[in-house]
Amino acid sequence: MADMTKTIGVLTSGGDAPGMNAAVRAVARAGINEGYNVVGFMRGYNGLIYDETIDINPRTVSDIIHRGGTVLYTARCHEFRNIEGQKKAAEVCKKHNIEELVVIGGDGSFNGALALSKLGVNCICIPGTIDNDIGASEYTIGFDTAVNTVTEMVDKIRDTSQSHDRCSVVEVMGRNNGSIALYAGLATGATSILVPEFEYDFDRDIIERIKSTTRAGKKHFIIIVAEGIGKVNELSFAIEKRLNIESRASILGYVQRGGSPSAHDRIVATEMGYLAVKLLKTHRNRMIVVKDGAVVHLDLNEAIAITKTLDFGMLKIALEVNS
Ligand code: ADP
Ligand code: F6P
Repeated sequence: MADMTKTIGVLTSGGDAPGMNAAVRAVARAGINEGYNVVGFMRGYNGLIYDETIDINPRTVSDIIHRGGTVLYTARCHEFRNIEGQKKAAEVCKKHNIEELVVIGGDGSFNGALALSKLGVNCICIPGTIDNDIGASEYTIGFDTAVNTVTEMVDKIRDTSQSHDRCSVVEVMGRNNGSIALYAGLATGATSILVPEFEYDFDRDIIERIKSTTRAGKKHFIIIVAEGIGKVNELSFAIEKRLNIESRASILGYVQRGGSPSAHDRIVATEMGYLAVKLLKTHRNRMIVVKDGAVVHLDLNEAIAITKTLDFGMLKIALEVNS
């Protein structure tokens, strides 16, 4: 006979992000303390469709607060994009007597959660992605760790760039969002920062900036390029050709997604996971967000509709100070 104890389900979906484990841990511990069963669905929405679960007890989540990746594994699940897949998932939630499904992931995962909520499953979304691209939230779990990793990598690239009097063109992640590029560009003093949100002009924003900093005595240059702009090899080649300086392209790639979460990511993840459980008695279908620096919750439908903006003021600071 099925166990009819009320259950909280939790899954991680989309790209993994440092701090996802801390969020899973907080959901598990707070949920169990409140008297719920907690069940983890494996590999994002795949686990829901194919009913692949792990039972979670307080000790299952021991020793994970400091670990990168996700102990629940993650995946991109094409089957869940269509209504048949979503109906299968809703049935599995019913079978497990899910009172609340906590979805830790990015905007794609949240759209999936919204679809599931329309089939009667109470979904609570926690922003977990290195991209910091959720419009409703000032912050997404993993971003701080990723920016710190990029900063560390670019510092290393700078050493060799400086030794050779070279230009280094570095591509960072973020899909269509320039947050990682902007923050890492500020943290590393990059000569130019290219993000998809603001148009750039090759001559004005790269060549002229390299020339003017050269006149100020600089001999090596860091150009940070968001993934949404891409083409770092072409950019590097074009810089070399125009300015007769050596230039090299580096694509940082998946190092940005790995590693032990920063203290900030662990703390935000813990606050968000805790709130996801505490709001269960009073609210349904919410997105946990950071707003005005505080961890709060918003209506899922309304929160998903909010688009992300990038702070142009920060780019202006970088343009003036990194010169
Ligand atoms: P992220 O959550 O990091 O943005 P994706 O965009 O890859 O990552 O989305 C993760 C998963 O969420 C997808 O593999 C799919 O299963 C589900 N998903 C994404 N978009 C939708 C959608 N519009 N409707 C239903 N499910 C979706
Ligand atoms: O969303 C996180 C992210 O790392 C993006 O920055 C990047 O565009 C994408 O995931 C890469 O996804 P995949 O794991 O499919 O290569």
